[in-house]
Amino acid sequence: MSAPSLFDALQQQPADALLSLIGLYRDDPRAQKLDLGVGVYRDETGATPVLRAVKAAEARLLETQGSKSYLGPEGDIRYAELLQPIVFGRTLAADQLAGVQTPGGTGALRLAADLIAAARPGAKVWLGTPTWPNHAPIMKAAGLTVATYRYYDQATQTVLFDEMMAALSGAAAGDVVLLHGCCHNPAGADLTPDQWRAVAEVVAARGLIPLVDLAYQGLGDGLEQDAAGARLVLDSVPDALLAYSCDKNFGLYRERVGALYAKAATPARTELMRSNILSLARANWSMPPDHGAALVRVILEDAALTADWRAELTVMRTRINQVRQALAAGDSALAFLGRQHGMFSLLPLSAEQVGVLRRDHAVYMAGSGRVNLAGLTLATVPQFIDSLRAVR
Ligand code: LMR
Repeated sequence: MSAPSLFDALQQQPADALLSLIGLYRDDPRAQKLDLGVGVYRDETGATPVLRAVKAAEARLLETQGSKSYLGPEGDIRYAELLQPIVFGRTLAADQLAGVQTPGGTGALRLAADLIAAARPGAKVWLGTPTWPNHAPIMKAAGLTVATYRYYDQATQTVLFDEMMAALSGAAAGDVVLLHGCCHNPAGADLTPDQWRAVAEVVAARGLIPLVDLAYQGLGDGLEQDAAGARLVLDSVPDALLAYSCDKNFGLYRERVGALYAKAATPARTELMRSNILSLARANWSMPPDHGAALVRVILEDAALTADWRAELTVMRTRINQVRQALAAGDSALAFLGRQHGMFSLLPLSAEQVGVLRRDHAVYMAGSGRVNLAGLTLATVPQFIDSLRAVR
C-alpha cells in the first residue's frame, strides 16, 4: 500500500465529450459511418487535407529557414501583422493595437482571460448560451466570473436577440462580453448586420469590453463579410480584445495557430496591455510553437500563395454551403440550415436521439445535437436525412 499523496485529493474528470468522439468514430467498424463531431473541414472524399498553399509554404520554409532559435513571447510578429488587413480590413498603428501569436484560438482566449483577470480579478464575462463548451472553462480557469444569457433557442432555431440585448443592457461598465465573430459555434446562427449595429451601440453605451472570438473567418459568407460585425463592434469602443484562429481557415488544426489582438484608446494603454500580454504569455507557454504561424506568414507574404489560399478557402466555404442547401431542400424540417453559417448547426435532438443515431445509424455528433456539416457530402446527405427521420 502506498503512502497518501497530495494528488489523492484530485477529483476524477470526465474525458472531453467532444474530443472523445474522435476515438469512438475511429473505432467504429461500420462502413457507412458519418463523422459530424469535432470541427474540422472535410472534403468531398471525407479527408481533411493539408492545403496546397500550406504544402507550398512548407516546402519554401524547409529551403529557406536558417534558424529555429527563440523568437520571444510575442512569437512571429510579422505573422500577426500580416493578418491584420484580413481581420480588421486595415493595418493599425502599433500604438493602437497590440498583436501577438498564440497557440491556437484557445491560447488567445486564455491569454485574453488572463489579461482581464490581471486588470480586474474575478471580472465578469458574459457568455450567450449555448456556446463553445470550452469558453466557460477557459474563463473560469483564469479566475473570471461567468454570467450567461440565452442566445439561441434550439427548438425553434431562433436567435434570442431580445434576451441578448436585455442582458447586455443590464451589464455593468467594465464587464466583458464574449461575441462569436462569425459561424457561431455551436448554433451556426449569426447576428444580422442590424443586430451587430445594435450590439455595438449597447456595448459602447454601457462601457463593456468586447472579446471577439473569430475562429472561422472565411468559412461563412466570405473573409470580408465574416469580419464585418466584429469590425463594427471594435470600431465603436475604446478598448477591445479579439482572439483569432487560423486553425480552420488555413487547415492547420494541430499546429495550433492563433493570435490575440488588444485594441486600446491611447498609445499608453496599448503599451500597458502589450507588456502585460507578453508577461502573461511568458508565464503560460513562454513562446508559442513556430511552425504553423511561419507557414501563414510565408503564404501572406506571397501574392500567388495568398491567392491560392483564398481560392482553397472559397472551395471549402462553397462545399459547406452546398451541403447546407442540400439538407434544407431535402427535408423541410432542416430548412433553417440553409439560412445559417459555417460548419456548425444545432439540430433539435435530445441526448437520447443523439445516442440512437450513434448506436443504430453510425452517425456521430456532439451530445448537444451539434453537427459539423463539413462531415457530410452531397452523396451522404440522403443517408443522413433518412437517419434523422428514423429517430424523429
Ligand atoms: C470544435 O468546436 O469542434 C473545435 O473548436 C475543436 C475544439 O477544440 O473543440
